Amino acid sequence: MAKCRICQSKYQPFIDFGPMPISNNFLAEKDFANEYFFPMKAGFCSSCSMVQLLEQPAADVMFHDNYTFFSGTSRLMAEHFKHFADDIKLNYLTDKQSPFVVEIGSNDGIMLQNFAEAPYRHLGVEPSANVARVAQDKGLNSIVRFFNLETAKDIVAAHGQADAFLAANCMCHIPTLHDIIEGIAHLMSPGGVVAFEDPYLGEVIRNTSFDQLYDEHVFLFSLHSISAAFAQHGFELIDAKPLETHGGSMRYYLSQKGMRPVSSRVKQLLQDEVDLGLLIPGTYDKFRLGCEQIRDDLKYLLIKLKREGKRVVGYAATSKSTTLLNYAGIGPELIEYISDTTPLKQGKFSPGMHIPVLPAETLQGNYPEYLLLFAYNHQKEIFAKEAQFAKNDGKWIMFVPNVHVVE
Ligand code: SAH
Ligand code: TMP
Ligand code: ZN
Repeated sequence: MAKCRICQSKYQPFIDFGPMPISNNFLAEKDFANEYFFPMKAGFCSSCSMVQLLEQPAADVMFHDNYTFFSGTSRLMAEHFKHFADDIKLNYLTDKQSPFVVEIGSNDGIMLQNFAEAPYRHLGVEPSANVARVAQDKGLNSIVRFFNLETAKDIVAAHGQADAFLAANCMCHIPTLHDIIEGIAHLMSPGGVVAFEDPYLGEVIRNTSFDQLYDEHVFLFSLHSISAAFAQHGFELIDAKPLETHGGSMRYYLSQKGMRPVSSRVKQLLQDEVDLGLLIPGTYDKFRLGCEQIRDDLKYLLIKLKREGKRVVGYAATSKSTTLLNYAGIGPELIEYISDTTPLKQGKFSPGMHIPVLPAETLQGNYPEYLLLFAYNHQKEIFAKEAQFAKNDGKWIMFVPNVHVVE
């Protein structure tokens, strides 16, 4: 039995993905022998409804000065974060003279850059030094630290309290959520807004997108579990907004209880979660069966294509693909290589299964018959960019919400 990180109740795992490597640890051949693996299992706590990994590697094994995920690799995400920033500016900060905005997991500054001009004051908190440096080189304020209560105290001492606390695809990475919320409670000015977005449990269940679970994603949040966690520290959910990013995310808005009106959307979205079965354990057993079907269908398809002598290349070496490939046991015998635009990943091998990662240019002029789209969350952008592939009769293999081929 495992102990819930949010409410301390005991719970059982509903799925065992087997040994998993670090999802962003693209490595050289000489490092294969020493590769780090952890047992990846996920469980559902029926007391507070949080979905979580039972074990997670230590934070400094995942986030360090050689972190390979740069937010700026997607143009559409840059637009998305401009909209996020505008939403906060227009709806939550107009009553402040010189609003102070703190973002954690600010990475290369993709969101912070929208708060660089007066009247806003901004600070990023980003432990991965190499990506933080990209933000600093753009003239943005970013400290290289993990956010926690201690960091919050230092920020308040140096800059005062924050009027907005923001995060994207970061809160669900941090196992010590209570320590983070204590930090937020210390940091926020009265009535300040806390807004963060992460892949949404409801979409993961709807689409069987189990690849949203990997070492970094220790939690899959819902309105129910977020309310439960924050209520313990005097916060309430004031709004929530479903998003299309990362295959289906949710943005949560919170503030100290009673300080801001609660949108009617909250009640509706909570009800949707009940209707979807997010509060009952049977949902997660059904989900596991769906995961097994995708795992098996994809492997069979790849084996069949291999026997037919077809070439298959992976598209985008995402962190999510680490879960899919290792869970299904798909390696270089079935996928020739993975094409990716991130220089740090190129020339390396994928975590665990050791498929070579090559620059996107490798594809040009030498398209295979099939491309397996790992970055389905960037499908629109990628299909547009690779229009020539489809014109040349290339076919895309998709695996969410089920394994199918797009001709
Ligand atoms: N917000 C960006 C980056 C997401 S990646 C985007 O949505 O594209 C997650 C980031 O969170 C990484 O850059 C990682 O270094 C950072 N991170 C992990 N733990 C953290 C913590 N405790 N405090 C602040 N940042 C953290
Ligand atoms: P993500 O799904 O975790 O955001 O990871 C995105 C990865 O996809 C990153 O390694 C860059 C890569 N990528 C491409 O190779 N080509 C593209 O067109 C896009 C949008 C991303
Ligand atoms: Zn719990």
